[in-house]
Amino acid sequence: MPKVRKAIIPAAGYGTRFLPISKAVPKEMLPLVDKPVIQYVVEEAVASGITDILIVISRSKRAIEEHFHPAFDLESELEAKGRVEELEALRRMQSMARIHFIWQPKMGGLGDAILYAKDHVGDEPFAVLLGDTVVTTQDESRPVTRQLADVVELHGGSAVALQEVPLEKVSRYGILGGDEISPGLIRATQFVEKPKPEATPSRLAVSARYVLSPSIFAHLEKTPKGKGGELQLTDAMASLMKEEALHGLRYDGQRHDIGNKLDFIKANLHFGLQRADIGSALQEYVQQLAR
Ligand code: G1P
Repeated sequence: MPKVRKAIIPAAGYGTRFLPISKAVPKEMLPLVDKPVIQYVVEEAVASGITDILIVISRSKRAIEEHFHPAFDLESELEAKGRVEELEALRRMQSMARIHFIWQPKMGGLGDAILYAKDHVGDEPFAVLLGDTVVTTQDESRPVTRQLADVVELHGGSAVALQEVPLEKVSRYGILGGDEISPGLIRATQFVEKPKPEATPSRLAVSARYVLSPSIFAHLEKTPKGKGGELQLTDAMASLMKEEALHGLRYDGQRHDIGNKLDFIKANLHFGLQRADIGSALQEYVQQLAR
């Protein structure tokens, strides 16, 4: 199987759950300590072997472009002032991967966003990482995108990351049903976008990471609009599943969905507590609050 080299990061959505801040500031640019959410997502892709990234953006998302573009004036300023550490951090970030941008002019759903990547992807398997969600794994050397790429490079077809959710939450996710063929690896037979609890095939929810076969584009092109009047990636994958294998992988890790306020604050604590510079002072503060 060809290696997974390219990734798509959809980051065009309005972020309505995070208004008013998301009106002019992309939710993907909100900071977790001192790095925007989308930088963690790009770093996961790069740590998974991805060398080429296409970020799908829209109006009011230009800050994402600026973040990854070189800023030569700022670099000269840092150089002149001898701020070596900051300069290196900037340069490291800008040279991590080839990063491209494309506009999704109308919010037509996740499937519509992916369809804009068709020409860029061509005829090879590719990763999709949702730009508002950071996923951490127990073993940091094996990000979830790498684990999915391994499944696809071994078995072919497509693969999605899964996490079990309580029954009352299945209607928020794409839910996959199928047979467990080895520990944690499920061969899909059903895939439904946001089912009602009484009609769900399982409690295994797709969790912001995919590695897809390029055949998905032909299915996206013929898939009618689904839930919410939007073109759903899940529906196109359910159609593709009839021709090619789809695997779900239950991963050992944590999903930080930055698009919602409570999880955003929790994620800042999670990453803040791990930091050498502020971790212990933050821990003291949290303990003080809890008293
Ligand atoms: C999207 C997908 C859904 C998936 C979810 C989290 O939904 O359509 O299948 O489970 O992301 O990865 P959204 O959160 O955009 O409504």
